[in-house]
Amino acid sequence: MASQNEGGWFADGEAYEGYVGRWSRVVGRLFTDWLSLPADLSWVEVGCGTGALTETILKHAYPASVTATEPSEGFLSLARGRINDSRAVFKSGDATSLPLKNAEADALVTGLVLNFVPDKQLAIQEMCRVVRPGGTVASYVWDYSGEMQLMRYFWDAVTELFLDGADHDEGKQFLICNPGPLEDLFRKADLQSVEVRALDAPTVFADFDDYWSPFLRGQGPAGAYCVSLSNDDRERLRNRLKDALPIESDGSIHLIARAWAVRGVVPV
Ligand SMILES: C[S@@+](CC[C@H](N)C(=O)[O-])C[C@H]1O[C@@H](n2cnc3c(N)ncnc32)[C@H](O)[C@@H]1O
Repeated sequence: MASQNEGGWFADGEAYEGYVGRWSRVVGRLFTDWLSLPADLSWVEVGCGTGALTETILKHAYPASVTATEPSEGFLSLARGRINDSRAVFKSGDATSLPLKNAEADALVTGLVLNFVPDKQLAIQEMCRVVRPGGTVASYVWDYSGEMQLMRYFWDAVTELFLDGADHDEGKQFLICNPGPLEDLFRKADLQSVEVRALDAPTVFADFDDYWSPFLRGQGPAGAYCVSLSNDDRERLRNRLKDALPIESDGSIHLIARAWAVRGVVPV
């Protein structure tokens, strides 16, 4: 199977920022706090996108360096343009063939990426290859089938309204995004001391438009599905979501975005 990135889900960095980048930043902070790794390490980040997690590592994990890789040129150029830090290096690359040497990193992380890589076992082997013995490999993915609520409301409404809706549901497509499969993936790669936990980030929308308009910019599977609908069907979806979402009296919408985070140690 071709990389799903080739479908154009991740082409427009500015549009991605308003859709998921803003929430990945919040989860990224919970993730680096959970990892709680010492300062002055050499980090690698795989699938850095627009640099949401890269920035968090640079600000809060006190790294010696962060080498961030990403296959989408649109995302990479936004990350390069916005992150001006001598500790950060950006490289074009796919998770299954990283442009990096064996054992060059103390820690390798990847946020919201694993489910988009068709050959996950190859990707995890490749990630282990570039981390030194005793180093950390860690990842987080959305809880698409559970408490990644902004997407759960979206796909539940799609499934209710359209006959083929369930086929597109990320909760059904991305089975890796559950604690058991994540733990299995890490254990089968021979990672040690594997742990999985939930990270819950508040996602507060100022009003319905703040929730809805990012879907119209076509990023990720939900955005791509939304823009593929006819105007009438999109209007039906919009109305269904307006009815279903818990909209407060001041118009705001308070949801949570849960990510499953997993970590393991490369054997010594
Ligand atoms: C949901 S975005 C996450 C971006 C960023 N890590 C964040 O947290 O905001 C998914 C990212 O995975 C990247 N991606 C998709 N397929 C990939 C692959 N085979 N190897 C590496 N990255 C991939 C996409 O280009 C995109 O940047």
